Amino acid sequence: MSKILITSALPYVNGVPHLGHLVGCLLPSDVYARYNRMLGNEVLYICGTDEHGTPSEVGAAKEGMDISEYCTKYHNRHKEAYQAFNLSFDFFGRTSSPQNEELTHHIFELLDKNGYIEEKSIKQIFSIDDNRFLPDRYVTGTCPHCGYDKARGDQCENCTRVLDPTELINPRSTISGSSNLEVRETRHLFLNLPKLEKRLSEWVRSKEPFWPDVAYSIAQKWLKEGLQERCITRDLKWGFSVNKPGYEDKVFYVWFDAPIGYIGITKQWADEKPAERDWKSWWLDAKDVRYVEFMGKDNVPFHAITFPATLLGTGENWTFVDYLKGMSFLTYEGGKFSKSEKRGVFAEDAVKEFPADYWRYWLMANAPEGSDSAFGFDLFAAVVNKDLNGVLGNFVSRVLKMTSSKIGAEVPAGGEQTATEKELIALLQTKVSDYFKYMNEMEFRKALNELRGIWVEGNNYISAAEPWTVIKTDPERAAAILRTCINLIRIFAILSAPIMPATAESMLARLGLKMSDIPSLKDFNVAEEIEAVKPGQPFTVGEALFERITPEKVEELKQKYGSGK
Ligand code: MF3
Ligand code: ZN
Repeated sequence: MSKILITSALPYVNGVPHLGHLVGCLLPSDVYARYNRMLGNEVLYICGTDEHGTPSEVGAAKEGMDISEYCTKYHNRHKEAYQAFNLSFDFFGRTSSPQNEELTHHIFELLDKNGYIEEKSIKQIFSIDDNRFLPDRYVTGTCPHCGYDKARGDQCENCTRVLDPTELINPRSTISGSSNLEVRETRHLFLNLPKLEKRLSEWVRSKEPFWPDVAYSIAQKWLKEGLQERCITRDLKWGFSVNKPGYEDKVFYVWFDAPIGYIGITKQWADEKPAERDWKSWWLDAKDVRYVEFMGKDNVPFHAITFPATLLGTGENWTFVDYLKGMSFLTYEGGKFSKSEKRGVFAEDAVKEFPADYWRYWLMANAPEGSDSAFGFDLFAAVVNKDLNGVLGNFVSRVLKMTSSKIGAEVPAGGEQTATEKELIALLQTKVSDYFKYMNEMEFRKALNELRGIWVEGNNYISAAEPWTVIKTDPERAAAILRTCINLIRIFAILSAPIMPATAESMLARLGLKMSDIPSLKDFNVAEEIEAVKPGQPFTVGEALFERITPEKVEELKQKYGSGK
């Protein structure tokens, strides 16, 4: 049994997550965590809200709330939305926790002691009208690299380059919109990345055979351009205090304490049951831990460069990322998701329209892996109607209804396997191996393609075997065919479980089974599994697994959630 640590990038607490966030790291990490648990691996799956920084300050100010109450309110909303999506975190914590503060201070102290922290006077944008410094997102302007006109002071979300607010062309205050800005001097602390560059680039190079291209090339691009010192403090009130004299009125930059949050949240988890849980066995001098991080591609530089550099500089033996899955972006009806413009589907609304599994399946089947992918209600409905309702749902109801009406509500006895079943088993075994291979490689679109192919084989088998005709002349043979089909339902449920956990439960429940009855996937053998449900086992037909989405509903949804740009 291997130990697998899985993290999903920590969503900013402000605002509510949409489908793009879900597919960008939350869902793929959940699928991977569920799959690994089913393999029998020891999984720790961690996520939480990223609560510091300007986004929370801006958000709380907009709602006229105290920042920490604001964060609690939205932390809970995130948590509920993810529960509704069946995300199986072992713990969903917060970067603002005392555990994270303690770790952040500890890590900073070591970096300082080891000579990786510099003090420098820098020029920051000061807004005369707002009477304050404008760090990061408090400034908006035109990106000097790509010309995008809504670039934020910390990063251009169009070209993903990390920016300094003073680099922006035509800067304006996000708070008041004022462009009455001036540049003033202020003292800050910097992480000396150039000093860590050699060790860091050796480490990155050692990852080349393992990291996916998106992640590796972004990391290499950064190293090629040469690392700059990174400012890790801010002139803000909201954030962790800086444990260094002279910095009493500043806080740590959100991107300094956020990734440390993975460790802080693990500590939050461990502190709940100190007798059973040990955060260090995952993070510090940890043995045999494979660490997999999921994130959107805009997050790669922080996870591939700055966070590992932070950990390297401590001189302690932290767990470094082994595999970094960087996802591209999802577009919405040909444009961008936008909360302010009320365009896009948000997680909490999505589950009111359709069960979570419809979304989980669609999003994973269309995950933006190599390149961006597009969400549209027409595409969504087509896939739900064809793959889920037409192939999987139809197979399940056809088999159970037919068996129950022609033979009875028990797995039929009699007959035996013929060459047709042997062929089916061989075919499925190949597809199942490919499915596992792609899941292991986190190639989710390819994995789902195999899964769909597996369901299709069920339909092909029953169509060719025609139990409804055979039963008139050879009831024994018909029993064998239907028994095989019922076992296929169990197999389909098991294989679909990481992606559609509720559907899998519902399929198994019809056969009187539970997920906890399912043996490890490690030695999954179709020839054995196809005889797992024995003759005489009672079953229930149940409701249809999925409902078709009508063209009228598609129109209604487009109206409701906004269409186009
Ligand atoms: N909040 C960041 C974002 O949504 C992600 C932070 S990941 C962390 O882009 F690990 F650094 F917290
Ligand atoms: Zn840009």
